[in-house]
Amino acid sequence: MPAIGWNTDLYDNNHGFVARYGEDLINWLRPEEGERILDLGCGTGSLTSQISQYGARVTGIDASEDMITKAKAGYPKIDFFTQDARFFSLPGNFDAVFSNATLHWIQEQDLVLQSVYKSLRPGGRFVLEMGGQGNIKHIEDAVKQALIETGSQEQPAESWFFPSPATYSALLEKHGFTVRSLAFFDRKTPLEGEEGMQNWINMFGSFFFRNTHQVTREAVIRRAAEQLRPVYYQNGTWYADYVRLRIIAVKN
Ligand code: BEZ
Repeated sequence: MPAIGWNTDLYDNNHGFVARYGEDLINWLRPEEGERILDLGCGTGSLTSQISQYGARVTGIDASEDMITKAKAGYPKIDFFTQDARFFSLPGNFDAVFSNATLHWIQEQDLVLQSVYKSLRPGGRFVLEMGGQGNIKHIEDAVKQALIETGSQEQPAESWFFPSPATYSALLEKHGFTVRSLAFFDRKTPLEGEEGMQNWINMFGSFFFRNTHQVTREAVIRRAAEQLRPVYYQNGTWYADYVRLRIIAVKN
């Protein structure tokens, strides 16, 4: 998992769609009054707060201290902690663990699923959405091509984890879960502003630019956006080629 220095204001202002789409995942969670729910990868806490409005007792964790600082300031009545999804440990058992747009940042899924399993009561549910197989493939291809064309020596090694439905179901079963519902679908996602694609790559593309000088980085991002423009800029709006994997799994 990369150590990402998130700009939390940019995250909320320019990439608010992350939380907006996550609202629909709450319909899968169906939080009930009094339930103990963990929001895994809560970011700045906007979905955590929405879950709490159902009367659930929610805790939010995120690996980013900056995100947690902002979440605490925004929602002072909710418990937020800086904890890593691979190794978290909290007292008691949860009725449900909820996770939106976080798991694809982590390669060590065995560690995550062990921690989630331990944190749930028997019969507790794990409700998740992440990028699935093929997610942002065209963006990735365009950036890699632009890196080659600009003569960058960068060779992105580590990357996101975008599993197929079969791969992630097998992982869940291996870790003691039963998959109850699954959806795998394209979500062409509108990005905000005339610079939407460049902003997206800048904000989220940390894997591409470990050793790339800032000036080259900017040139690569401009070039990648040019390549993507004919297909992913339509009627004044940029789109990202998201593919979502959504699952409800229950602890055996
Ligand atoms: C996603 O939500 O699919 C995503 C976000 C940032 C980087 C990669 C994927």
